[in-house]
Amino acid sequence: MSWTPAQIPNLSGKTALITGANSGIGYQAAVELARHGAHVILAVRDVHKGHDALQKLLREAAVGHVGQGLTRPTAEIALLDLASLASIRNFALGFNARRLPLDILINNAGVMALPTRQLTEDGFERQFGTNHLGHFTLTGYMVPQLLGAEEPRVVTVSSLAHRNGKIDFDNLQSERSYTPWKAYQNSKLANLLFAFELHRRARAQGSKLISIACHPGISRTQIVTNGPGSDLKTSILFGPLKFLTSPDTEGAEPTVYAAADPNAHSGEFIGPDGFLEFRGHPKVVRARKKACDPEVAQKLWAVSEQLTGLTFRRLAPLPTDTSS
Ligand SMILES: NC(=O)c1ccc[n+]([C@@H]2O[C@H](COP(=O)([O-])OP(=O)(O)OC[C@H]3O[C@@H](n4cnc5c(N)ncnc54)[C@H](OP(=O)(O)O)[C@@H]3O)[C@@H](O)[C@H]2O)c1
Repeated sequence: MSWTPAQIPNLSGKTALITGANSGIGYQAAVELARHGAHVILAVRDVHKGHDALQKLLREAAVGHVGQGLTRPTAEIALLDLASLASIRNFALGFNARRLPLDILINNAGVMALPTRQLTEDGFERQFGTNHLGHFTLTGYMVPQLLGAEEPRVVTVSSLAHRNGKIDFDNLQSERSYTPWKAYQNSKLANLLFAFELHRRARAQGSKLISIACHPGISRTQIVTNGPGSDLKTSILFGPLKFLTSPDTEGAEPTVYAAADPNAHSGEFIGPDGFLEFRGHPKVVRARKKACDPEVAQKLWAVSEQLTGLTFRRLAPLPTDTSS
């Protein structure tokens, strides 16, 4: 039988931080986690959109709410622009000061196929900068809070688009040539390389942190309007072939499963179980071989540290020195 969100365990006492949580996959994942008792932090770049999403979530997550000892869902918004290293740092400073253990981090926010090459505040190509570098930096800053939780999870949302991606270290940010879809595909491949490398590093260091990647298939969210608008490729996929795509509630299922199901394991890639993984219920899916290449992943990690100035802390305390 297919997995459904009804199988999510009680998440009371857990805190989940979700980027890009005011719409689409991020919003729907936030609703399910809040409905099952997690305290959810909606990380948003637009405070007005954030407030609207928060009000809606508190109403929607109250329906079927199962939080133990809680009568209502609890959630808050936090300002976080992934296209600004300063914004990520400010958010992290405030969050770290609360010393709140972070059980679930969902790296979800994204922009897709922007028609022209745009830059982030720090001069990074916007898709690579937001989708990959922003989440890389955020995760790095969140390590202490994640390690404060009993069973910390990092979920990184990638895409089927990773299959056509390429990490070209000589054109990492499309400096030489910019193609909207290629830049998106590359950023989604970077998401997967990061998620799998985080998994490998956590295991090698004996960390309790787990890292799971997922993709929603093709889901009807704001991502087309916010990105390519109505170009031919998207018009076909989201128009005549609409039946192949999912509503955002269904598109969020792989994310929710990766974030909350006890049967999801570190290093897995979760996607929809339907035709060509376009839609359906969560299952373990296969990433392309290039997404699992440790050499490329390590180089990308090092380059990401250089670009962002963020050095990842260890993911577990050093083993105690027994020599003395
Ligand atoms: N929908 C699909 O078919 C599909 C397929 C494969 C993968 N995905 C992935 O799923 C994830 C969620 O996308 P979605 O489909 O739910 O699209 P969406 O409805 O457009 O949601 C994207 C979210 O990301 C936020 N965001 C964009 N730039 C940001 C920034 N600089 N800082 C903080 N937040 C930012 C957006 O905020 P604003 O509202 O302020 O713009 C929005 O909340 C993305 O990683 C996407 O690549 C989606």
